[in-house]
Amino acid sequence: MISEKMQEKLNEQVQKEFYSAYLYLSIEAYFTSMNLNGFANWFRIQAQEERDHAMMFFDYINRVGGRVNLRLVDAPKNNFESIGEALKLTLEHEQFVTKSIYSIVDVALEERDHKTNAFLQWFVNEQVEEEENADNNIKKYELIKGDGRGILMMDAELAQRVYTPPTVAQA
Ligand code: FEO
Repeated sequence: MISEKMQEKLNEQVQKEFYSAYLYLSIEAYFTSMNLNGFANWFRIQAQEERDHAMMFFDYINRVGGRVNLRLVDAPKNNFESIGEALKLTLEHEQFVTKSIYSIVDVALEERDHKTNAFLQWFVNEQVEEEENADNNIKKYELIKGDGRGILMMDAELAQRVYTPPTVAQA
């Protein structure tokens, strides 16, 4: 079993992960509207990963005898001023998600809920990669900003990203 407080935190995280998917689909649509299909591909895959994350929390709540309680998912921002804005928003959002994961770890440690802490460690590590990837995109874009050929080269690189389902050692 998990505590009521932990169940609440995990349900909130299901919502945040679905919101993340929604945000990245919105950014995908923005890039598609600009014919930057490689950027769009990167965000499509990012959104798929976020749905996976949501379902990992969903499944975990069920496996430990909790009750899934789905929340309203807010509309994401749908318009972006520039490529740079969309990329920066992605990093900021991942930093927000990292803080959220850490706050659940804090509750797990307070409650000596070791199984949930073990489950959460996959996400602690995943967030390092999520922030790193988002930051790499910003840094590349900063190098080429304004140069159409550079943007097309980056678009071709981002087109190479392929979806791989998460491999998780379940708690
Ligand atoms: Fe579910 Fe991008 O972290």
